[in-house]
Amino acid sequence: MNIKFHIQDLNFYFNNNKVLKLINFEIPANIILGIIGPSGSGKTTFLRALNRMNDLESGSRIEGQILFDGEDIYSSDYDVVALRKRVGMVFAMPVPLPMSIYDNIVYGPRLSGVNDKKRLDVLVEKSLTAAYLWDEVKDRLKTSAMRLSGGQQQRLCLARVLAMEPEVILLDEPCSGLDPISTAKIEDALTELKKEYTIILVTNNTKQAARVSDYTAFFLMGDLIEVGNTGQIFTSPNKTETNDYITGRFG
Ligand SMILES: Nc1ncnc2c1ncn2[C@@H]1O[C@H](COP(=O)(O)OP(=O)(O)O)[C@@H](O)[C@H]1O
Ligand SMILES: [Mg+2]
Repeated sequence: MNIKFHIQDLNFYFNNNKVLKLINFEIPANIILGIIGPSGSGKTTFLRALNRMNDLESGSRIEGQILFDGEDIYSSDYDVVALRKRVGMVFAMPVPLPMSIYDNIVYGPRLSGVNDKKRLDVLVEKSLTAAYLWDEVKDRLKTSAMRLSGGQQQRLCLARVLAMEPEVILLDEPCSGLDPISTAKIEDALTELKKEYTIILVTNNTKQAARVSDYTAFFLMGDLIEVGNTGQIFTSPNKTETNDYITGRFG
């Protein structure tokens, strides 16, 4: 099995507050990893550690190693800009740019030097199709993205990440503000996308992890309590904390 990330003895601090505690596990390629756990458990911090987004927070400090395709992403000569291109991110609140649907998608590719109109057109159709949005917007690509519904905006944000042709997609509670139909479309898109990408999905909805994840990791107060096949985690977890959380006893 091809391993995308090796996480080794990872500790993470905000000032003196240790928010990730000695995390060790591996994330295989071409799967959906669901990350569950109550609020404040370190899920977002963990996700942002994978593409060094936390570097932007003052007072943050990391110990241990994260290897991406075998390379230590925190080594001093690692190319962070290239990393963030290879490891794209979708946030909880969709934030389209105040421009057309088309321009939203081509914004990133243009910045990274793609200017050929035909190539951009292909990228737009391909990304929107993969994000399960193409059919709904193909006749109005030049209209403002701000006019899309919340669920459509979130799929647009996914399409924007796909247009950068990453290898890994990080999603932080991408469906938290969405209705069930929009949520189902995102879930269908992710299930299709894992053939080509590695997907890491933080979700506040354990049922969502049970539905779409191949592997599930349960974080609690900065500890990785348990990680394994989603079927096993949800039917016969090894730890009582996991069982209590997935059965809704807390969270
Ligand atoms: N930028 C930050 N500065 C200081 N503390 C932070 C920052 N971001 C998160 N934290 C703290 O880190 C811990 C983990 O937060 P987070 O990763 O957001 O958890 P989750 O996503 O599971 O809700 C919390 O105690 C939170 O208050
Ligand atoms: Mg969070």
